[in-house]
Amino acid sequence: MSRLITQYVCQQCGFRSAQYLGKCPECESWNSFVETIEKRKGESLPAGRQGEKAEVIDLSKIQQTDYERLDTGFEEFNRCLGGGIVAGSLILVSGDPGIGKSTLLTQLALNDGGGALYVAGEESARQIKIRADRIQPGANLSVLNEIDVDNIIEKIQEMFSQNKLVIIDSIQTLETTDLESIAGSVGQVRECAHRLQRIAKALHIPIFLVGHVTKEGTVAGPRTLEHLVDVILSLEGDANNQFRILRSTKNRFGPTDEVGVFEMEEKGMIEVKNPSKLFLEQKVEAPGSAVVSTLTGLRPLLVEIQALVTKTNLPVPRRTGSGVDNNKLQLLAAVLQKRMGLPLFDQDVFVNVTGGLKISEPAADLGICMAIISSFKDQSIVSKTVLIGEVGLLGELRNVREIGKRSAEAKKLGYSNIVSSENAKNLSQAVKLCLTTGR
Ligand code: TYD
Ligand code: MG
Repeated sequence: MSRLITQYVCQQCGFRSAQYLGKCPECESWNSFVETIEKRKGESLPAGRQGEKAEVIDLSKIQQTDYERLDTGFEEFNRCLGGGIVAGSLILVSGDPGIGKSTLLTQLALNDGGGALYVAGEESARQIKIRADRIQPGANLSVLNEIDVDNIIEKIQEMFSQNKLVIIDSIQTLETTDLESIAGSVGQVRECAHRLQRIAKALHIPIFLVGHVTKEGTVAGPRTLEHLVDVILSLEGDANNQFRILRSTKNRFGPTDEVGVFEMEEKGMIEVKNPSKLFLEQKVEAPGSAVVSTLTGLRPLLVEIQALVTKTNLPVPRRTGSGVDNNKLQLLAAVLQKRMGLPLFDQDVFVNVTGGLKISEPAADLGICMAIISSFKDQSIVSKTVLIGEVGLLGELRNVREIGKRSAEAKKLGYSNIVSSENAKNLSQAVKLCLTTGR
């Protein structure tokens, strides 16, 4: 087979070069060259790119208005996908090494009645068997140990009638011989994912891609994969903690930011059906502990936020958040200092979201502020209080979306004292409603 012509293209300015360059001579950016297959007039296109010309379609002629979805066997997983796996979709599952991506996807393959194809580029079939046996002793699964994407596609086409689901573990191990660069490089990752995308759409099968997260926190092939796939799920959690949170950050077929909660056990992942209850199980009534009702996708979750405020011995006091953004914390600490007169200038502030959850929505502002005030004053927040509200720069409480849903979840778990912009206009009023002795 004749080799295709490839070139290295600067991702910043489009400059082309026959070989890899560390620095672009045109725009002077570093490490911006990615190997790309050249399409030239008269040359044949790479495998899978030949196809019929597209026709114009009238939307009124399309009968089906909903997606056909496959059950994953996990309610929590279905929720993240917006109700199940959409046939023909390319789904990226990313996360830190060791977090449980292979475990969860092996379970998915087994839930499918073992009819799925598990393509293992990282581990041997024996390793996959050991894992599968741990989850479901004696279970069967079709495993393909292959890293050449074109061979994988050939196999998928061959086995198509038997397999409903394909799992690629991981996209970074795949390569095509059409490119010179090594497996895991941006060019390879992008080209392999493109080819899998085409086969998923053509055969109408769902393909899961496992993607490793780089040190910078992006999936390797900076952002290129993220544009290409239909759904991005990230598996988060703390290796020292059994909770695992599956979060959808992009979904062409459903809401984003939807969260599924799992626990990593001896025999694989177990889904947690009532996460609010679990997150609050170990809560103690002590200064610095506040409960917020946060909306993840469509579902409200009650989560505990803890704060610790202590005298600093540094010239610039620390503001350290785990599960909350540090910049947000800086800002809220400044608001508390200015609007509430809280002398935090010589205090370190540490804030932690328990259960390993990450909260980025402004509705948790009030909870973070109250946890800090409560720790600073060494006074507990009134028992069964839930805090809901965005805090403005003037110390005012702002409305948040879906307040009804959030309050309903709180009431369901017996949290009757709900403090929000509906009963408090600013931080001072909120303090009166939830601290044991007020100001
Ligand atoms: P793994 O799925 O291999 O992670 P990833 O593919 O994201 O790198 O899971 C790794 C960890 O999970 C490993 O430390 C062992 C643990 N584990 C369990 O606790 N229970 C189990 O049933 C299995 C299969 C793994
Ligand atoms: Mg793995």
